[in-house]
Amino acid sequence: MIGFSRTSEGLACDGVSLAAIAAAEGTPVYVYSAATIRQRYRDLDAAFGDYPHAIHYAFKANSTRALVALLKAQGSSVDAVSMWEVDVALAVGFLPRQIVFDGVGKSDAELERAVALDLKAINVESTGELARVEAMAARKRLVARVAIRVNPDIDAKSHPHISTGLKINKFGIPAADVQQLLPTFADRRAVTLVALHVHVGSQITSMEPIRGAAVRLAELARNAQAAGVTLEYVDAGGGLGISYDGGAVPSFSEYASAFIEQIRPLDLPIVVEPGRSIIGPAGALVARVLDMKPRTASSEFAIIDAGMTELMRPALYNAFHLIEPVVARAGAVTQYELAGPVCESGDVVGRDRMLTPLLVGDLVAIRDAGAYGAVMASNYNRRPLPAEVLVDNGSWRVIRRRQTLDDLLALES
Ligand code: LLP
Repeated sequence: MIGFSRTSEGLACDGVSLAAIAAAEGTPVYVYSAATIRQRYRDLDAAFGDYPHAIHYAFKANSTRALVALLKAQGSSVDAVSMWEVDVALAVGFLPRQIVFDGVGKSDAELERAVALDLKAINVESTGELARVEAMAARKRLVARVAIRVNPDIDAKSHPHISTGLKINKFGIPAADVQQLLPTFADRRAVTLVALHVHVGSQITSMEPIRGAAVRLAELARNAQAAGVTLEYVDAGGGLGISYDGGAVPSFSEYASAFIEQIRPLDLPIVVEPGRSIIGPAGALVARVLDMKPRTASSEFAIIDAGMTELMRPALYNAFHLIEPVVARAGAVTQYELAGPVCESGDVVGRDRMLTPLLVGDLVAIRDAGAYGAVMASNYNRRPLPAEVLVDNGSWRVIRRRQTLDDLLALES
């Protein structure tokens, strides 16, 4: 049984009881299923069939070393959005040519390093950034490999904070401007245009924006070829959503087919940068009920030891994460407001949830927290970053220990 499922001991991850992990490691604790990560990687890979492609896992979703090492073993490459992510990737053993470097604001230091490393591509987001890269490469007498991130003016119809493809968003170069830039590459000596890139948003749950992005990408790649630019590949970004609430989302094969259909006539390999769709469902945040108190005539507060400091998504995006008791008690289903321990009213992890009875000391699992969970945790209220555990092949190990007070104070004088 892979992933999270119920056994006689309650909810388990790859068959290992979450209660046992929490008893040994304490809470809050992130628990990941290695089998799920492998399975999802393989399913996405298989969705492209024999069409030439490369999966560049988006480190931003979760870059805990053991997890990215696991993806490396599956054959993954890397999408990094900071030089620190690039360095983590190199430390794990990825090669520079397996790394694409994204980001709307890259410092000179980051770009200098990226040029020197000769990454697979620096995905530039403005003409100014392109000029900076070009000047750096010229000074070093190198040729920088760049991809242009195109802003296709497409509505991803996701949460406004994570929709990135509209003209009013800060990302990429408008398609019309890219069109004008294309012929200039023939005369540029210090940069070579290796790809065009789109990423219209994250947690996309319908095919329409994905198809739109594919059409735009193909159109511009065709124009690039017509302008005499020999692209090596196209980069379709990340963005495929997962089902947090049980609703339907596009499959890996629908996603892959949409791009293959458009790009095949151009005969170019497809790069994708998935984060959430690989790792999201593979993780749960396990927390303990600290306190119970009345709320309304028909609902109660359950105060748990994980909140916006451990999982920011509900507070930041009003995101829904399924929450379930690790061991379901007998009794009538009750309405709960599951709130974190942080001194803010917005620190609610689950609103109006109908759950089997909860008591102080009970464990709950906050599901689908593998992506943008641990990586977005903070030390607000001096709370230590939680431990992370990987379950693999029937056993589990800590892949990141819980922070200690010494860790918290280590940087201060
Ligand atoms: N490529 C680029 C250029 C990106 O900006 C992103 C995510 C990805 C790939 C990976 O996208 P994914 O496959 O995971 O959708 N913190 C937010 C998500 C922010 C996503 C930012 N960009 C959340 O918790 O929902």
